[in-house]
Amino acid sequence: MARKSFKAMVVQQAANGKFIRMIVDKFLDELPEGEVLIRVHYSSLNYKDALSAIGNKGVTRRYPHTPGVDVAGIVEESVSDQFRPGEEVIVTGYDLGMNTPGGFGQYIRVPAAWVLKRPDNLSLREAMGYGTAGFAAALSIFRLQGYDVTPDRGEVLVTGATGGVGSLAVAFLAKAGYRVVAATGKLDEKQYLQDLGAAEVIHRDEANDTSGKPLLKGRWAGVVDTVGGNTLGTAIKSTMDRGAVSCVGLVGSPELPLNVYPFILRGVALFGIDSANCPMPMRRQIWQRIADDWKIERLDDLISECGLEDLDNEIERILQGRQRGRVVVNITH
Ligand SMILES: NC(=O)c1ccc[n+]([C@@H]2O[C@H](COP(=O)([O-])OP(=O)(O)OC[C@H]3O[C@@H](n4cnc5c(N)ncnc54)[C@H](OP(=O)(O)O)[C@@H]3O)[C@@H](O)[C@H]2O)c1
Repeated sequence: MARKSFKAMVVQQAANGKFIRMIVDKFLDELPEGEVLIRVHYSSLNYKDALSAIGNKGVTRRYPHTPGVDVAGIVEESVSDQFRPGEEVIVTGYDLGMNTPGGFGQYIRVPAAWVLKRPDNLSLREAMGYGTAGFAAALSIFRLQGYDVTPDRGEVLVTGATGGVGSLAVAFLAKAGYRVVAATGKLDEKQYLQDLGAAEVIHRDEANDTSGKPLLKGRWAGVVDTVGGNTLGTAIKSTMDRGAVSCVGLVGSPELPLNVYPFILRGVALFGIDSANCPMPMRRQIWQRIADDWKIERLDDLISECGLEDLDNEIERILQGRQRGRVVVNITH
């Protein structure tokens, strides 16, 4: 029988040591073992995908490799009785796109334990409009809520607000009734952030204290931080009594300059967000929340769409911090 081929982005290391990206034909029998073969319809671009696409060994150890931590598609073959051919499914996180060939190709083969039936009320394209970024934003808010950070407690800060995680955190928090303060390096996007639901937009420098003070005036009931580094340290020092901070990203820095005072004097809680390994029961609950209460009416306003051929430019843009909102990758053609 003829081998079935499909198109995929492949990142590989050239002889000069540089990583290059190409769209190539691959064969289904080159995919790893797994119970479910999925025809990818949509993927999305996350910061982690861009790191994988430039040879970051903290994300991807082995090359050549196909990035893409997000997939929405249709089951083509399944040896698991949990899934049948023709079913619409999503896969986000686990090892997908890290060391397992991911969504920047027309097919993936993965363990059944990674696969989720498409939530009712979300199309495949919408699911990827949220993708890992939306899932991480929602998980961040779940953590704040689990520490009783309710809307009546005060304002919630979102850093890196025009990015994928940031935009969706602003929108979800606003839907959940919080007063959201969005910190951004792109003040020209103020209207975009207000349309998502931000009550106030501040420059990112205002959320990045350089005074060296061990504690700052407590302003935030909660924080969703995508930046890390001194911005995360500032956020924790500016969180009020019994407030909480979700640490979700590191676009600024992976370091955390801090002392213990916010924890022992104010009872501030710091939550680590690891969306990739979130257990399946909570994963289902979060996707259902995204599909129901937090579903964004004007999701298209924060999505741009590209195909595999244009993905290269989008990867460069996200690496430079120039993306706004989310990029959905249409893999159907
Ligand atoms: N923990 C998890 O489970 C999880 C899941 C998804 C993503 N993440 C992480 O979350 C972060 C954001 O991901 P994303 O996909 O939303 O990326 P993104 O779309 O590129 O958004 C990042 C935003 O951060 C701001 N920014 C960029 N460079 C900055 C810098 N040097 N200093 C301060 N702000 C900067 C920019 O927004 P402004 O111009 O508005 O400031 C940028 O749009 C990444 O670190 C990613 O790895 C973690």
